[in-house]
Amino acid sequence: MIYSKHLKELSALSTPYYFYDIDLLKSTLKTVKDEAGKYSFKVHYAVKANNNVRILKLIKDYGLGADCVSGNEVEMAIKCGFNNYDIILAGAGKTDLEIETALSNKISCLNCESLEELLVISKLAIKHNCVARIALRVNPNIDAQTHSYITTGLNENKFGISENELSEAIEIIETSPSIKLCGLHVHIGSQIHDTNVFVELCKKINSLNNWFSEKKIKFEHINVGGGLGINYENPDSNLIPDFATYFSIFNTHLHLKNGEELQVELGRSIVGQCGTLVSRVLFSKKRSQSTFLILDAGMTELMRPALYQAYHCIQRLDDSNNNALKNSYTVVGPICESSDTFGKNIELPLTKRGDILLIRSVGAYGEVMSSSYNLREKAPAYFLENEKII
Ligand code: LLP
Repeated sequence: MIYSKHLKELSALSTPYYFYDIDLLKSTLKTVKDEAGKYSFKVHYAVKANNNVRILKLIKDYGLGADCVSGNEVEMAIKCGFNNYDIILAGAGKTDLEIETALSNKISCLNCESLEELLVISKLAIKHNCVARIALRVNPNIDAQTHSYITTGLNENKFGISENELSEAIEIIETSPSIKLCGLHVHIGSQIHDTNVFVELCKKINSLNNWFSEKKIKFEHINVGGGLGINYENPDSNLIPDFATYFSIFNTHLHLKNGEELQVELGRSIVGQCGTLVSRVLFSKKRSQSTFLILDAGMTELMRPALYQAYHCIQRLDDSNNNALKNSYTVVGPICESSDTFGKNIELPLTKRGDILLIRSVGAYGEVMSSSYNLREKAPAYFLENEKII
């Protein structure tokens, strides 16, 4: 286990901090590349999951593209060396400035989510004297069977263009010489574990693709979004998600037409397991129901438990005393609200002030969702690479 191996160095750093296992990220990226490569699928990394420069540059070195959701993410991707033709911009509410950033950087594609947006992109492309390459993000009305806050593919969600608007979308595109339709895009949600959901998605895309084909519309790419889940309960048993099964589902069930490339945009499954939040116990407080461990990290460093009641595995950094009698704790942060809770009924050996805890699987949507609430300092990040902590 990397933590016991580097116990001394990790204990010496001032907490709280994010710790990224770059060696694990490299193995994950190699797996993604090999498995997607079997079918010549193109992978864009969803920058929103973690936009740390060191991580972005590494992902770029492995040949992935960048899936961005803001003008700043586009600029960051370019700064980190991604080629403009490997960058896409998505988002239900792009500002004019963000669309212009995408156009002036000549990125590969803007994923367009409404009829109004089509008109705006068309107008801005004329202003920039260019042709905007776009994909239509269609809302397929498929339930991703995940937390409702991260479900995006149902009619009731704000995302994408409804099927009943597609004819109108085509009319706009056909009468707008400043936009070129290149792709079809869907994304139904995140932290998806039920593989049947992806099969259902493939069937839906096949029928949409046929519908367009009957209208003599050809796509360069079909983008199936992201969403592959990770194992939060037991990260060590599953540090690298099952990309082989994931990609093979699309290879089997999605029927690409001549000249179409399949694209995916994965975030969590690539970076989720490589990150850990390291935090020290400030105080322990006994109550009749449970003992609180109050940490120096809170919802400001990791919002997921407060926002989605998400489970993250919590361990002792020093777990050498594995056979010790376990106590049940409620692990909380120092922030002034009760939602600032990392976990209840957490079984740990006797833990006291000064002990260090690991909150696992925070590489995705951890650091990026941190805030300065309570005027707290931003926690630093450290990296384990080639067996060295930097
Ligand atoms: N593509 C689109 C259009 C997306 O909206 C997302 C994520 C992705 C790709 C990447 O999905 P992934 O492979 O990471 O599941 N903050 C939440 C997750 C929000 C996901 C937002 N969209 C969380 O902490 O669970």
